Amino acid sequence: MLISFEGIDGAGKSTQIQKLVTSMTSEGVDVVTLREPGGTPAAEKIRLILLENSHKISPIGELLLFSASRAELVQEVIVPALASGKTVILDRFYDSTTAYQGYGRGINLDLLQSIISISTCAVTPDITFYLDIEPEEALKRKFAKTSIPLEFEGEGLDRMERSGIEFYRKVQQGYREIMRQNSERFVSINALQPTGVIHFQIMESLKARFPV
Ligand code: TYD
Repeated sequence: MLISFEGIDGAGKSTQIQKLVTSMTSEGVDVVTLREPGGTPAAEKIRLILLENSHKISPIGELLLFSASRAELVQEVIVPALASGKTVILDRFYDSTTAYQGYGRGINLDLLQSIISISTCAVTPDITFYLDIEPEEALKRKFAKTSIPLEFEGEGLDRMERSGIEFYRKVQQGYREIMRQNSERFVSINALQPTGVIHFQIMESLKARFPV
């Protein structure tokens, strides 16, 4: 089974993934957790290029780099893990590309779709959890621990995070559109709820959709 998590930066995906891994592992499920971009030695290098803010990258360059990282991860890790019966939990997958590079950067959605097909070899999540949060709220949370001021241009932000609040609004709208078009695969969860409540909702959705 392939489970993916989506949402804008600061939505709380990592916390929920950790909780899900703990619960599934204690139930005896063999789980592999991966994040995008990254997950293989080559893909981790591509991640550095994408997130470092010492240089600019064009929207198409960005799309191809995210896709190159994904192609590596799918072929080297995801396909073999699924073939050996493991449950794969992905911190972002191709919906991020549609939301960020498509709706956020404005790349043509048909072009994007062809590149996604090439990079994923048609691997699709069985279920995708979308943690829904307003961009302003997500940013506030992200920096609550670090006292970095509430802006998208400061120190401590990676190249993507410097894209500006308007960019994040477009990404959020994009995710909502993707969900509308893939309603059977997506479960949208209000990310402002307490972490325990969100975890409970995730576990309930999984049990309802994939009864043992
Ligand atoms: P990361 O530090 O992993 O952020 P997060 O914890 O929010 O997932 O950085 C990944 C960044 O790359 C994030 O800003 C989302 C962005 N991204 C894209 O723009 N397109 C993609 O296809 C993927 C996978 C990520």
